[in-house]
Amino acid sequence: MARVLSGIRSTGKLHLGNYLGAVTNFVKLQHEHQCYFFIADYHSLTTHPTPSNLHQHVKQVLVEYLAAGIDPEKATIYIQSDVPEVPELYLLLNMNAYLGELERTTTFKEKARSQPDNVNAGLLTYPVLMAADILIHQADYVPVGKDQEQNLEMARKFARRFNRMYKTDFFTIPKGFNFGNKLIKVPGLDGTGKMGKSEGNGLYLSDTNEQLRKKVMKAKTDAGPTASDSTVSEPIQNLFTIMEIVSKPEVMESFKADYANCSIRYGDLKKQLAEDIIKLIEPVRERIEEIEKDDDYLKKVVKMGTEKARESAKKTVDEVRHLIGFRPF
Ligand code: TRP
Repeated sequence: MARVLSGIRSTGKLHLGNYLGAVTNFVKLQHEHQCYFFIADYHSLTTHPTPSNLHQHVKQVLVEYLAAGIDPEKATIYIQSDVPEVPELYLLLNMNAYLGELERTTTFKEKARSQPDNVNAGLLTYPVLMAADILIHQADYVPVGKDQEQNLEMARKFARRFNRMYKTDFFTIPKGFNFGNKLIKVPGLDGTGKMGKSEGNGLYLSDTNEQLRKKVMKAKTDAGPTASDSTVSEPIQNLFTIMEIVSKPEVMESFKADYANCSIRYGDLKKQLAEDIIKLIEPVRERIEEIEKDDDYLKKVVKMGTEKARESAKKTVDEVRHLIGFRPF
């Protein structure tokens, strides 16, 4: 069985785009592969969260992934900072990571530009920590979006370099996992681009039905179709795209027909869309509300995840130490 690993940023809550684009795929993967899902809380320190929100963010991500269907018995779900073998491997990998290659990473250059007062060494070595996350479980596959491809390439490079330096084939060279055309892209509600939190156009799994309705009713539209104009504007196309994902095919067809003969009322389209989105999100939100109250359950999940993750991590670190030349007295 292949080992699949995914690192999850512990910043903020999941929106419909994350849910349909990534999390539902992870839920399926856990039945087919040995999956590791972890919350990258050390990584979040590179952008300096405050002590008052660090834990809350970790908890939120954990709760939402569980609510979305990650099964802690099937997959290994854990928090990065609970596994001390990760920073140990990170330290060891740092010895073979070079300043020049780290400085050239796009994500580092971007962060150095966007937070010039806080160009810390953690930002510079971010790809090394990420490589440690991946290599610690000898992952075969890592599902990554475009923005993380270069970091995965660095992990591959560090693994190959280690194997070369210590004349071994110990480290598995991780590959990107491609969901191919199964990957759903959910557009935002503000007329352009995809759903994302920075754009403020997100429909969140934790949103109440009322919040969801309000957001959908406020979505950008246009002046309406005219007989002479056959092109569909981006805001309307986006609403249709979301409808295609969340609504029944006959509902979709009926609105498309109304659009084609110019009798469509965007208000009706949005009302329908909001209700269909609610049908999808409401059960997840109810599970979120249940799980977040259940401290005993969360404690149990974290304990189990930590144990499974450390068992696999320790095997790797023991062997790496041996290969490097550490010997017990
Ligand atoms: N850098 C990833 C992101 O920002 C999160 C991450 C940390 C990760 N470690 C990882 C992803 C290991 C995959 C594998 O989304």
